[in-house]
Amino acid sequence: MKINANTKLYGLIGHPVEHSLSPLIHNYAFNSLDLNCVYTVFDVLPEKLEEAVKGVKALGIRGVNVTVPHKEKIIEYLDVVSEEALKIGAVNTVVNEEGILKGYNTDVYGFIDSLIEAGEKIERRKAVVLGAGGASKAVCVALALDGIDSIIVANRSVERAKDLSEYIKKEFKIPCDYCSINEVEEIPEIDMLVNTTSVGMYPKVEDSPVSEKVVSKAKFVYDVIYNPLETVFLKYAKKNGIKYSNGLSMLVNQANYSFKLWTGGFFDKNLVYMHLKEGIM
Ligand code: ATR
Repeated sequence: MKINANTKLYGLIGHPVEHSLSPLIHNYAFNSLDLNCVYTVFDVLPEKLEEAVKGVKALGIRGVNVTVPHKEKIIEYLDVVSEEALKIGAVNTVVNEEGILKGYNTDVYGFIDSLIEAGEKIERRKAVVLGAGGASKAVCVALALDGIDSIIVANRSVERAKDLSEYIKKEFKIPCDYCSINEVEEIPEIDMLVNTTSVGMYPKVEDSPVSEKVVSKAKFVYDVIYNPLETVFLKYAKKNGIKYSNGLSMLVNQANYSFKLWTGGFFDKNLVYMHLKEGIM
């Protein structure tokens, strides 16, 4: 790839950003489609966010992804925000359309596609979602939009679980209960168990958000974590012969929707998966 005066610049705004896989994904995709674009990372401290957004505009950066801890805060600095991003209260993709900054959230569609990829249907199923942060909200909204029967949000802080469950009930008019993560043991049957907590993520890879007994009750298990690709939580599923999937699919699918917003087309997911697996294993 040749970087020249016509190269379009994209990037990731977050803190920290040094372990992000997004540059690997987008640069590979740009190259494979022969697009004169490049993607890098911008480590932006919370107190510098407003200036950074002004910088995106001033420098004509064509688009950015947004990650922790800026997904919520960035909304107030954008010119236009999509309906679903407003519903989730978080933006993970910004498009710079000739100086107008438009915010979107592609995590929701990324998660829905990951379930489709795993061959999982959502309708008439009961889900238990572990965690009540930003990732949980995107997963719960995706499940609600795609016709889940009911959700139970289980979290370490019960207050946060309650807030999210009330929001889902009010916004989507579906049954959504909540409990402490320690009470998940008492749920008799789980169609779909999704971990959105950071428990089990590198470097504390020996941890699991729930016990093997809980995992063994589920019919399908998803972990939004992709580092490591196989968390202890997923190992429990494997050991018990339960279908499971890791967070790499959500990462790639949300990236693909961002890519579409920026370039007008999708990248080839299979090529990107192969490239990523080579790059991270
Ligand atoms: P994100 O936006 O990635 O979801 P977050 O908002 O910081 O990040 O949420 C992290 C989630 O992991 C929360 O549900 C958090 O539980 P609390 O709300 O009780 O903090 C959960 N989490 C983090 N560390 C945990 C731990 N050691 N045990 C259980 N849950 C944990």
